[in-house]
Amino acid sequence: MTPKPTIIDCDPGTDDAVALWLALGSPELDVRLVTVAGGNVGLARTTANARAVVGLSGRAVPVVAGAERSLLADFRAEPAVHGADGLGGVVLPEGPALAPGIAADAIRDTLRGAAPASVTVIGLGPVTNLALAFATEPALADRVAEIVLMSGAWAEGNITPAAEFNAWNDPEALAMLLHLGRPLAMATLDLTAQAFVTPALVADLARRPGGACWQAALRILGALPASKRFGHRGFPLHDPCAVAWAIAPALFGARQAFAEMDLAAGPSRGRTVIDRWGRLGRPANLTLLETLDAPAFFDLLADRIAALP
Ligand code: RIB
Ligand code: CA
Repeated sequence: MTPKPTIIDCDPGTDDAVALWLALGSPELDVRLVTVAGGNVGLARTTANARAVVGLSGRAVPVVAGAERSLLADFRAEPAVHGADGLGGVVLPEGPALAPGIAADAIRDTLRGAAPASVTVIGLGPVTNLALAFATEPALADRVAEIVLMSGAWAEGNITPAAEFNAWNDPEALAMLLHLGRPLAMATLDLTAQAFVTPALVADLARRPGGACWQAALRILGALPASKRFGHRGFPLHDPCAVAWAIAPALFGARQAFAEMDLAAGPSRGRTVIDRWGRLGRPANLTLLETLDAPAFFDLLADRIAALP
């Protein structure tokens, strides 16, 4: 198995942190670059968190800062979910300094040095950095094997009734990726709801030994707020689902579907209109992840992160 050259764009964020550790602990991925957007808690915090998460893993992966706002507006942060610090109050040692430059340029440089159709691009936040990279050098899309996003929803949203947080925070950027013409897989809220974290699950996972990354991941999972959307029973673990698709696609049920963004001003802006039943007769532009083998997913998560330092 040849490890997949991989770029991860994120906005850490509690679930981003766990997703990064899953990726960095998995031999299927050769993570070559981590880029950061403001998203969950503002760029200053998300970059500090990305540095700390990568630093704790011991992996020498460059972290490059990027967009502190979307293409058209400021990001709306979500400290109620992630805490003001972005890691649920879990304090990590400061990580290595940021690599120089800005995210969109670093993404393009990494793609430019890669073979055709070879790079897996994983998006875990608003995809502003990815859109800027491809908008300034569209030809580099041919270096992409697959884009994998945690984004969107076919049913209800989580920041508005219609839209999911990442999609809503930069819908134009997501629309650009949907029309880039490269394979794109999407883990929506409807999928990530199946990766459901409860106190009992955290207690069960905590019985597994592991290093500092695993201990920190357990504390972060334990700090996830009980979601009113799920009757305060627990919280969906969003971003690791996207990474898991790149590592172990057999854990998922998926279908090809057409998706379009609602970009109009109003209550539906940022909605991912996902045509699961082909009613529009439009050619599919995404692989929609629909089902997850949750027990196997959490086993994978524990095995890979527990093996990190
Ligand atoms: O809607 C969930 C997504 O928004 C996750 O990526 C979370 O980290 C936030 O970025
Ligand atoms: Ca995220």
